Amino acid sequence: MKLDNPLTGTMISLDEWWMPFTANRQFKAAPRLLAKAEGMYYWTPDGRQILDGTAGLWCVNAGHNRKPIVEAVQKQAATMDYAPPFQLGHPIAFEAATVIAQLAPAGMQRVFFTNSGSESADTAIKMALAYHRAKGEPSRRIIVGRERGYHGVNIGGTMAGGIPGNRKAFPALMAGVDHLRSTHDLARNAFSRGQPAQGAEFADELERIVALHDASNIAAVIVEPMAGSAGVLIPPQGYLEKLRAICDKHGILLIFDEVITGFGRLGATFAAHRFGVTPDLLTCAKAINNAAVPMGAVIAKNGIFDAIVNAAPEGQIEFLHGYTYSAHPLACAALIATQKLFAEEQLFERARQMAPHFEAALHSLKGARHVIDIRNLGLVGGIELEPRPGAPGRRGLEAHVKCFEAGVLVRFTADILALSPPLIIEKEQIERIVETIRGVLGQLD
Ligand SMILES: Cc1ncc(COP(=O)(O)O)c(C=O)c1O
Repeated sequence: MKLDNPLTGTMISLDEWWMPFTANRQFKAAPRLLAKAEGMYYWTPDGRQILDGTAGLWCVNAGHNRKPIVEAVQKQAATMDYAPPFQLGHPIAFEAATVIAQLAPAGMQRVFFTNSGSESADTAIKMALAYHRAKGEPSRRIIVGRERGYHGVNIGGTMAGGIPGNRKAFPALMAGVDHLRSTHDLARNAFSRGQPAQGAEFADELERIVALHDASNIAAVIVEPMAGSAGVLIPPQGYLEKLRAICDKHGILLIFDEVITGFGRLGATFAAHRFGVTPDLLTCAKAINNAAVPMGAVIAKNGIFDAIVNAAPEGQIEFLHGYTYSAHPLACAALIATQKLFAEEQLFERARQMAPHFEAALHSLKGARHVIDIRNLGLVGGIELEPRPGAPGRRGLEAHVKCFEAGVLVRFTADILALSPPLIIEKEQIERIVETIRGVLGQLD
């Protein structure tokens, strides 16, 4: 299929780009294209304004095309485009790591740069294995994930993840994974505001898994403190605390995948701060530099870094892992400018203050057609629709398409609509998103 690109006056072909996580045939038959962005908005190539209810893909927390970030990237591109991060360093990379270390929970001041959330997950898994080996416990190799968990698409993340569709074509790429049950419990927790009251005991399942495999074989538990991609699953009160305690009891590392929750999404720097639970390794990406240049990071407890580094003979590379684009200069420049902007505009605090209004607006959809649950925390919201009999996922897709046609970007996972707007969102824009969804739900079969 060919399309006229009004921005350049050229014809573009849609055939060649094999699009990720996209129903390619369906999309290309009726494409939804974005060509420009600023603040809370996107524009389509033909100039239609779209209110961004999802911060892109949960990543543009400061809003689009913010001037200080754009200028920092432009300046860095003109100064030094690229520098190798293996056995060489560049000042801006160290500066970026210090910025992140200052934001991280106490005792977690070692920062390893990657280029995505997926790379961060796999890096954290390798760090956990390397740590136990360094400590003289190489049998600790099993990684425990959770059903409905999402840790990206690389091998470690695919295997530790718990979304059946993402795993089924790739059985047992990595030996030794097990899964906790998902904490999703509509029967007890539907329409909870904030953390659901029921379900801390889901964490006790870790004891069953430990009894089955023996603690001496388990390296780490990896969970999203709030699961985003599988449909906004908020941790029950007391659940993360229990997981932490059971991991400690058995010498198992706890990895928080904060790719979505990092950098203000829940009204605190990290979910670790919001919930008062500190992991051993914390993965992040997305809003780390407002998604201006691909970047991720793993933040490690100082003791994990020390154990791995000190176990190797002097002069040898201690952790044989890294990416050509780790700490890419453009990504680092964007990171420093982004974090400065977050601080100057107090956006994490702003998210916290806006959250009650967001919650009230979202829950006003209770009773709207097809809605079987609404859940929220910070500036994240999930609206679960009853699946259409025989066609699960269709309602979610149709709601997304109709909202887009009505000028509002809403994400969907199967029949769950997810909202995660930039942290600069205004109250009127929240109303507009909610009223658009209400209208769209009214029209859906
Ligand atoms: C919790 C979590 N981990 C990992 C990833 C993967 O990140 P990326 O798409 O940057 O590889 C995502 C992406 O949404 C995520 O939500």
